[in-house]
Amino acid sequence: MSELETLEKQFLQAIDQADDLSSLETVRIDALGKKGKISSLMQGLGKMPPEDRKSFGQAVNAVKQAISSALEVQKSALEQAALNQRLETEREDITLPVRPSPVSQGRIHPISQVWEEITEIFADLGFAMAEGPHIETDENNFTKLNIPDEHPARQEHDTFYFNPKPDGSRRVLRTHTSPVQIRTMEASKPPIRIIAPGRVFRSDSDQTHTPMFHQIEGLVIDKETHMGHLKWVLEEFCKAFFEVDDVTMRFRASHFPFTEPSAEVDIGYSKVGDEVRFGGDENWMEILGCGMVHPNVLKNVGLDPDEYQGFAFGMGIDRLATLKYGMPDLRAFFAGDLNWLRHYGFSVLNVPTIAGGL
Ligand code: PHE
Repeated sequence: MSELETLEKQFLQAIDQADDLSSLETVRIDALGKKGKISSLMQGLGKMPPEDRKSFGQAVNAVKQAISSALEVQKSALEQAALNQRLETEREDITLPVRPSPVSQGRIHPISQVWEEITEIFADLGFAMAEGPHIETDENNFTKLNIPDEHPARQEHDTFYFNPKPDGSRRVLRTHTSPVQIRTMEASKPPIRIIAPGRVFRSDSDQTHTPMFHQIEGLVIDKETHMGHLKWVLEEFCKAFFEVDDVTMRFRASHFPFTEPSAEVDIGYSKVGDEVRFGGDENWMEILGCGMVHPNVLKNVGLDPDEYQGFAFGMGIDRLATLKYGMPDLRAFFAGDLNWLRHYGFSVLNVPTIAGGL
């Protein structure tokens, strides 16, 4: 057996025996690397007599080819084996149940949900969002809303007062969202079309009253605004919110110092067992107060009542939530009871939109 044949045999055997990619690479370098045995033979060709050069050259080349392709075959076999081993060890059992994530366990509080539903409806009607602080000046909460110092309405509000400042002025926890009307009219020019949801505070607590609750204020100011617009907006709102085509509403004459005329709105419902059905005139539930903005209020913020009119309304968010989702006790909203929240709460991914449903 010639030296070349022996070499070929040795290398092919070494390739066959290489059991991982790095030992295969060692064999490759040993044979075909720059200083490898086969490469040296090729380099030696130049020193051979020309008559031998051609046939020996062809023979070396053939061996080189054979070794190359053997390397190739073994390499892909080893790669496949390595891959199979990884697949084996990194296997995931996708039949295992999904671990519940915080997203699937968390619940949106019914008040947050209803808050979102209401703002979504008014956004669709073209209302912008406004807001104000929980700690208000006595001026914004009362005086500028046409409730002067000795007005009896101040007592009705069961106000939480802060200690008076040296100059005698007192701050309050806002008793309603109406001071946002004042802030908005002072900060922007008509036409105005805003809603302002938020927390309000009154010193009152029983089954239907909590010292903190939520309201949503609405305000529209323009040149030719009238009660018809107010009525239409509230009707559209109720249809969208209660998801019914027909709502029965009742506007009852009422009194608020900051609106004239004023009304309270009841909606009709009936009870089938424990379930509340909207419509009809069997029972009435008061859901909001509203009216045309009082000329004194317009004057207080520097608007000319002969040029501008507007309407305002204030609704209890908590009330609307109890009514829509049938939750009897208002206090449960703020008890922080996880079982209650799991029962009455909403999925985090269930975002209310007009198009997707509320
Ligand atoms: N602020 C009133 C309340 O808290 C509700 C209201 C708002 C009435 C706007 C009329 C206009 O009872």
